[in-house]
Amino acid sequence: MEPAVNLAALVPNDTWWPLLPSRQLKRKPIALERLGAQVVVWRNGRGEAQAHGRFCPHRRADLGQGSVHGHNLVCKFHGFEFDGTGQCRLMPCEGSAAKIPPGMAIRRFPCLEAHGFLWLWSGSPETMPAAVPYLPALAGIPPLASADTEMLWEMPLERSVEQLMDMHHTPFTHPLVWLSISSKRNTRMVYEDLQLEGDHWRGTARFEPDGGGGKPFRLPHQLLFPNQSLLEFDYGIYLYATLVPINRERSIGWVRYLVKAPFSRALSGISNWLEARFVQPDDLAVLLANRPARGGLQHQCLVKADSFIAHWHRRWSHLVPGAYDEANPKANTSS
Ligand code: FES
Ligand SMILES: [Fe+2]
Repeated sequence: MEPAVNLAALVPNDTWWPLLPSRQLKRKPIALERLGAQVVVWRNGRGEAQAHGRFCPHRRADLGQGSVHGHNLVCKFHGFEFDGTGQCRLMPCEGSAAKIPPGMAIRRFPCLEAHGFLWLWSGSPETMPAAVPYLPALAGIPPLASADTEMLWEMPLERSVEQLMDMHHTPFTHPLVWLSISSKRNTRMVYEDLQLEGDHWRGTARFEPDGGGGKPFRLPHQLLFPNQSLLEFDYGIYLYATLVPINRERSIGWVRYLVKAPFSRALSGISNWLEARFVQPDDLAVLLANRPARGGLQHQCLVKADSFIAHWHRRWSHLVPGAYDEANPKANTSS
């Protein structure tokens, strides 16, 4: 059996992680770092997405600078060609009749294209399921009808993922956005119908004025553990987000507005523009200064409104041993 992808043990085995939005991957190979591994992604002649180890076994050139010929990935340095299994099929300098050494191969990473992303399976290729789970509420909404906002988080996944589940920061971190959807007085938040079982968590965040009165604002929220989140706004507007560790210190994610309404493409494009321009910068400004950078249960005094976050960390610490250990504790003192 081929080994699992999760080289750096950053995530649990046998989970799905987005590599990049499908629309970014055209015919030109793209080099990426994900889960601490160096990966090249490319499309073969049939348009099927592939993911392999990034460096050519010959003289270690970056295959992200290569090209695609038929169903093969071609190295820019000496033109060696690799097929979808990762095996070298041609060494031009030796001629097509030459015997190719078995070690002249690149590692194949199990991946699947679904829901507008290319997903990496953090297990071995033999255990890869035929489908990537998705939030049932989004069934039937074309994922490619909308734009994405990319978020490069200079912080570990254990911190950035909290932002997918933190509802009650909105009135304070994004006051103008909040005023456009709710009232300034709605700062108390309680979960209605909280369900944190299995992999699919649900709850409706109800915002209301402290002490009652006023008009409550409800924001249904779902999480497909560990990394797909959904907020359901009025007028059939959904905010979908997913993320992945680049390595132990950085992560990257995408926010995508999906709209079940007329003019879905335009509405989604405008929402994404607002997100990139006004929402993400405010989040980042706060989050980059948080210490310790890694988050987790040990250094945070979480409250009821953080139920999703607390549950996520409890489960993660169980699944990823050492996830919250700091290599250099001095760099992350909380005092
Ligand atoms: S380094 Fe790739 S073909 Fe030589
Ligand atoms: Fe935010």
